[in-house]
Amino acid sequence: MVTVGIIGAGRIGKVHTTSICTRVKDAKIKTIADPFMNEDTAAWAKSMGVENTTKDYKEILNDPEIDAVLICSSTNTHSPISVEAIQAVKHVFCEKPIDHDVEKIKNVIKALEENKVKYQVGFNRRFDHNFEAVRNAVQGGKIGDPHIIRVTSRDPEPPSAEYVKVSGGIFLDMTIHDFDMVRYLAGCDAEEVYVEAAVLVDPAIGEAGDVDTAVITLKMANGAIAVIDNSRKAAYGYDQRAEVFGSKGMVATTNDTLSSAVISTEAGVTGEKPLYFFLERYMDSFAKEMNCFIEAIEKDTDTPLGVMDGLKPVLMGLAAKKSLQEHRPVKISEIEM
Ligand SMILES: NC(=O)c1ccc[n+]([C@@H]2O[C@H](COP(=O)([O-])OP(=O)(O)OC[C@H]3O[C@@H](n4cnc5c(N)ncnc54)[C@H](O)[C@@H]3O)[C@@H](O)[C@H]2O)c1
Repeated sequence: MVTVGIIGAGRIGKVHTTSICTRVKDAKIKTIADPFMNEDTAAWAKSMGVENTTKDYKEILNDPEIDAVLICSSTNTHSPISVEAIQAVKHVFCEKPIDHDVEKIKNVIKALEENKVKYQVGFNRRFDHNFEAVRNAVQGGKIGDPHIIRVTSRDPEPPSAEYVKVSGGIFLDMTIHDFDMVRYLAGCDAEEVYVEAAVLVDPAIGEAGDVDTAVITLKMANGAIAVIDNSRKAAYGYDQRAEVFGSKGMVATTNDTLSSAVISTEAGVTGEKPLYFFLERYMDSFAKEMNCFIEAIEKDTDTPLGVMDGLKPVLMGLAAKKSLQEHRPVKISEIEM
């Protein structure tokens, strides 16, 4: 049994708490920490069977009974708390992204070299049943050599301009999942990134210094070409699809819907909209990634997504930012230097 502490009791902290309490057999949560811990959150924690709540995450790091921590706090806290937790010899599950700053991610890498603990990054979409099936088809040679990888990732609603200002921008906040997906489906790293982007959804996003619509092309190390298209608002809901086209065929997914019923009448043929957003679409993947993390601790094996898998999409995101600013293709190696 692995004893866990949760750092951050916001949206994703609650998702992981729910997974562990209801769908992860070999883990139990001892404490949840959040500087804004209040009676409501403490009562919610109790209702999930978690007795201890605190405002100070250091209580978790100093607790010898806690084996592993989940860092679910705001992005700017991920790398410093990762380093502290690793140095306290706790296994760490860290939400994406580890940081926006490569130097800070290097601090995490150094801490991991000095302490033998497990580290997993929260790219949950790898654990989604659809994307796993696409990856398995590619890995199994069913479509031959991959030539074109397409990832469509469109949100149902744009975030607030306030959020956009602190988000690090669309590439490090939203596309970062798609950068990971492209690496996962291609089975290799990206070498070069080129971006076309615009503000077409909400002028406030532009005023906050970001874009809301983007097409990103990538040259992959195995020669494949990848294309990601992003929008902060799809009128019909959360659009999450992938396709890999290769020398022997193609594998593609459709969106998950509440049912597969299609109504055909004189007026036309209609089906369900995609599931609303990530909390509806990806709950199974969140539970699965957590089971994998706990299993890696119990069996003393590598986690499925280590710190380098956390670093690479950040490099791709920084290259995308540079491509947009300078309006040219940017090599990933320009960012690493
Ligand atoms: N994998 C995914 O699909 C996914 C989805 C949503 C969010 N996220 C990531 O999870 C992180 C949190 O996002 P969210 O949507 O839950 O945000 P949120 O604002 O709902 O929650 C963040 C929580 O962290 C708390 N916090 C801040 N500093 C803290 C500290 N020092 N110690 C403990 N708690 C602290 C805040 O008080 C807040 O309650 C972000 O980095 C985000 O990128 C990932």
